[in-house]
Amino acid sequence: MPASTLTKHRATVRSTVVLKAIMAITGLVMIGFLLAHMAGNLWVFAGREEFNDYAHHLRTLGEPMLPHKVLLWALRIGLLLSVVLHVYSAITLWKRAHVASARKGGTRYHTSKGQRGVQRSYASFTMRYGGIVITLFVIYHLLHFTGNQIHPGGASSSPYDRVVNGFEIWWVWLSYVIAMVAIGLHLRHGLWAAAASLGANTSPRRRRQLNTGAITIAVVITVGFLLPPTLILFGGIS
Ligand code: HEM
Repeated sequence: MPASTLTKHRATVRSTVVLKAIMAITGLVMIGFLLAHMAGNLWVFAGREEFNDYAHHLRTLGEPMLPHKVLLWALRIGLLLSVVLHVYSAITLWKRAHVASARKGGTRYHTSKGQRGVQRSYASFTMRYGGIVITLFVIYHLLHFTGNQIHPGGASSSPYDRVVNGFEIWWVWLSYVIAMVAIGLHLRHGLWAAAASLGANTSPRRRRQLNTGAITIAVVITVGFLLPPTLILFGGIS
C-alpha cells in the first residue's frame, strides 16, 4: 500500500515497528563489536609486546589491500552510525510510550508488587539509566584509551602500559566495574528485546531459550571485560 494512503495511526504503528527493528539491528552490531573488543583485550595476558602488536594491527587493518586506516575508519563510522540510530530510536520510542500512557509512564505493566500498582520494571530502569551510564562511560573511555587526554597512572604511547598503569588504580577499576555491570544488565534485556522485535519469540520454549542465550552472552561479555582490569588490580599482571 502506498505510504500516502496510510492513516496517521497506521503510519505511526508502522514506523514504531521500523524503529524497533532499527534498535534491534544496531544493538546486535554493537554486541558484535563488544564480543570482538572483549576477546581482543585478552591479549593483555600474553604480554606487553603482544598486546601492543595487537593494538597496532587494529590500526593497520586491511593493509596493504586498502590505504592506511581506511578499514578502521569504515568500522568506526559503522559503529558511530549504529550508536546514533540506536539512541535516536530509543528516545523516539520512549517519547511515544510516554504520550500513549497519558504521560504517567509505564502503566502497561500492572503488578500487585509495586506500591503504585505499576511495575517499576527492572528493564525500563536498566535500559534508560543504564543507557545514560554507558554513554558517559564511552566518552570517558575514549578520552582515556583512544584520545589519551585522560591518563590516570601516567601517559604513555604504549597501549599495554596505559591499560596496566590505569587499572592499578582502584577507582579506575571501580568505574569500569560499574560501567561493565550497567552494560551487562543492558545487554541481558536488550538481547532478549532485540530477538523478540525480530520475531524470534514464537513459543514458551523459544522464550526460555532466548532468555538463557541473552543471559549467557551478557555474562560472557561482562566477565570477559572485567578479567583484565581485575587481575591487574590484584597483581595477576604487572
Ligand atoms: C575493561 C573493559 C575495557 C578495556 C580494558 C578496554 C580497552 C580499550 C583500549 C586499550 C582501547 C584503545 C585501543 C587502541 O587504540 O590502542 C579501546 C578502544 C575502544 N573501546 Fe574499549 N575497553 C573496554 C571496554 C569497552 C566497552 C565496554 C566499550 C563500549 C561500550 C568500548 C569501546 C571502545 C571503543 C569505541 C574504542 C575505540 C576504538 C577505535 O579506535 O575506534 N570499550 N578500548
